[in-house]
Amino acid sequence: MTSRYYATYAAWRRDPEGFWADAAGAIDWSKRWERVYDPDAGVYGRWFVGAECNTCHNCIDRHVASGRADQAALIYDSPMTGQVKRFTYGELKREVVALASVLRNQGVGKGDRVIIYMPMVPEAVFAMLACARLGAVHSVVFGGFAAPELAARIDDAKPKAIVSASCGIEPGRVVAYKPLLDGAIALSGHKPERCLILQRDTLRCDLVAGRDLDLADQMARERAAGANVDCVPVAATDPLYILYTSGTTGQPKGVVRDNGGHMVMLEWSMEHEYGVKPGEAFWAASDVGWVVGHSYVVYAPLLHGCMTILYEGKPVGTPDAGAFWRVISDHGVAALFTAPTAFRAIKGQDPDATFLPKYDLSKFRTLFLAGERADPETVRWAERHLSRPVIDHWWQTETGAPISQNPVGLGLLPVKHGSPGVSMPGFDVRILDDAGHEVKPGTMGNVVISLPLPPGCLPTLWNAERRFRDAYLTEFPGFYKTADAGYIDEDGYLFIMARTDDIINVAGHRLSTGAIEEAVAEHPDVAECAVVGIADDLKGQVPCSFVVLSAGRSRDGKELEREVVALVRERIGAVAALRTVVAVKRLPKTRSGKILRSTMQKIADREDWKMPATIDDPAVLDEIGEALRARGIGI
Ligand code: COA
Ligand code: AMP
Repeated sequence: MTSRYYATYAAWRRDPEGFWADAAGAIDWSKRWERVYDPDAGVYGRWFVGAECNTCHNCIDRHVASGRADQAALIYDSPMTGQVKRFTYGELKREVVALASVLRNQGVGKGDRVIIYMPMVPEAVFAMLACARLGAVHSVVFGGFAAPELAARIDDAKPKAIVSASCGIEPGRVVAYKPLLDGAIALSGHKPERCLILQRDTLRCDLVAGRDLDLADQMARERAAGANVDCVPVAATDPLYILYTSGTTGQPKGVVRDNGGHMVMLEWSMEHEYGVKPGEAFWAASDVGWVVGHSYVVYAPLLHGCMTILYEGKPVGTPDAGAFWRVISDHGVAALFTAPTAFRAIKGQDPDATFLPKYDLSKFRTLFLAGERADPETVRWAERHLSRPVIDHWWQTETGAPISQNPVGLGLLPVKHGSPGVSMPGFDVRILDDAGHEVKPGTMGNVVISLPLPPGCLPTLWNAERRFRDAYLTEFPGFYKTADAGYIDEDGYLFIMARTDDIINVAGHRLSTGAIEEAVAEHPDVAECAVVGIADDLKGQVPCSFVVLSAGRSRDGKELEREVVALVRERIGAVAALRTVVAVKRLPKTRSGKILRSTMQKIADREDWKMPATIDDPAVLDEIGEALRARGIGI
C-alpha cells in the first residue's frame, strides 16, 4: 500500500487552518471556536480561539457516554509491588471524580495550580485528570528530582495544593518521598495550603498536622458520599498543565500546554502517526513526570478511547530482560513507545532475545522510540528480533507530540536507519546556518521550525514570556529554534545529531549540564568546574565533571568524587546520574574566558577535534587528555 503521508502533508500545507479544523471534529467542544488560528493572539498566534472544552470530559466522560464504560481504560502493572490493577472507563471516572472532589474541597478551582510529585501509581493519573476536570493546572514533577529542584518548581508554579506519596520504589531501594517533599516546602518561599499524601504500604510516612491529609481516606469519603464533580468548561487556550524542563541555566523552564490544541494534536496523532485504533492497548514505558508520560501514558490513549498501561518497573531486573515482552503479552499491547536506552538495556542483558519466544506478541504491531538519538545498531537489533516496524521519532517537551517520524498510521515510508523520519503535518522543519540562511540538503545546521507552531505546542513559558522569546524565537526570526543540530537529506528525511546548547540526554532524561555545574560549584573545595556529556553504551550520554580545586587545597581524588556525586544527588537528584569527577589543574578556555566544553567532550569521546583558534593556552588540552586517560576515559 502506498503511504498517504505525502498527500496528507500537502493538504496541510495548502490549508493549515482547514486541516486542523477537520482534525478538531474528533473532539467534543462545549463552545465552537471563533477562529481556528488567530495570528494576533499570544506570542506567535493561538489555536481555537474563542472555543471552550474540557480535557477530562474528552478523555473519560464522552467514552463512558458512548458505550465504553466497561472497556479497560487504565492498567497499572507494577512488578515493583507485584500488583496489577485494571480500571474500566467507568471506574476511572469514579476515581477521578473522587479525587477532583477532594481537591475542590480544598478550594482548588479553575486556574489554580496543583503540583503532583508521585511515583508511577494510578493516583498520579487520577490527579492529572482531576485537575483537568476542575480546570486547574497541574505540574507533575518527576520523582527522581531532589528537594531543591522540587522547591524551584513550587516557587515558580505557586501551587494551592500538592499531591504526593509516602514513597517510590526503585530496584533495591525505597525512595522516601515525604522527607523530600517536606524539605522542598521548607526551602520554598511559596507554601502550599494543603498536601494530599498517598500512604503506600512499602513505607508509610508521618503527616504534618494542619497541612497534610491522607489521600486514600479523603477519596474514600467522597466516593461513599457519592460526590459528583462536573467537568468545568475552560477556554481552549487556557493552560492544562505546566511541565518544567531543563533549560540552559539551573532555573527550569515551565513549558505551558493548552487544552484545545493539545487535544486536537494528540487525538490526530494516535490514528495517523501511531496507527492505533480505539479499544487497542497502547503502552508508553515512560514516567508520567516526563512529556512522553503526559502525552502518551495519559492524554492521547485516553482521548482516543484506548487502554493505556502504567508500568512501575524497569526494562531489566524487574525481574529480567523479558519484562517488556511479558507486559506486551499480558495486556495485548498493540504499540509500545519507549526510549532507545531501554532497548540497549535489554539487548545488553539478553543479546539473543532468548526471553522473547516465551511470550505471546501476536497483538503487537509497532515499536516507537524517542527521547534521544536511536542508534542504528539498537534499531536493527529490535527489528531483527521483533520482525516488526521500529519507528524512531523526534520530539521535545516543548512540542508535546512528534515533530518527525515514519507515519505508520498513514502508511509506512521506506525506513532509513539513523533518521527519525519526515516532518509531520503542522511542522515545516528547516535547516539554517548560524547566519540564518537555509542550507543545502545533507548539510548540517540549526534545526528550526517555521512559525506558527501547530496546535499542542507550547504557546509560551509559565510566567516567562520574555524568556520564551529569547530562548526560542529571537535568534532566527520567523522560526522556532529547536536547539538541535542536524540535516535533512535529498528525500526530506531528518537526521538529528546533537544539541546546540548545554542540554544532555541521559537514559532518555533531559538534563542541563549548567544546572549540574551549579551544584558541583557548591562544593567548598571546588574553585571552578565544567560538566560535559560523554558517550555511554547504555545511557547514550552521562555527565562527566571536571573540577579545579581552590588554591592551596589538595584532596584524595576518590574522596572528592564521592562528595561531589553526593552533592549533585542532594541538589538535583539521582536522575542526574553523575558518577565521574575528574580533578584537573585548570580548564581550557578561550582568550575571552569561555570554557571549551565541546573540545573536552570530543577528547573524552575520542572524536576528531580541531585546536580552537581562540584558545588561550593549548597545553591545557594535553592536561585534560592525561587526566581523562588516568581515569580510563578517552583511550
Ligand atoms: N524516583 C526516584 N529515583 C529514580 C526514579 C524515580 N522515579 N527514576 C530513576 N531514579 C533513580 C534510579 O534509581 C537511579 O538511582 P541510582 O543512581 O541510585 O541507581 C538514578 O535515578 C538514575 O536512573 P536511570 O538513569 O533511569 O538509570 P537506571 O540505572 O535506574 O536505569 C534504564 C537505566 C535504561 C533501565 C532506565 O533509565 C530506563 O528504563 N530508561 C527509560 C527511559 C525513559 O523512560 N525515558 C523517558 C522518555 S521515553
Ligand atoms: P525532551 O524534551 O526531554 O523530550 O528532549 C528533547 C530532546 O531530546 C530533543 O531536542 C533532542 O535533542 C532529543 N531527542 C528526542 N527524540 C529524539 C530522536 N528521536 N532522535 C534524536 N534526538 C532526539
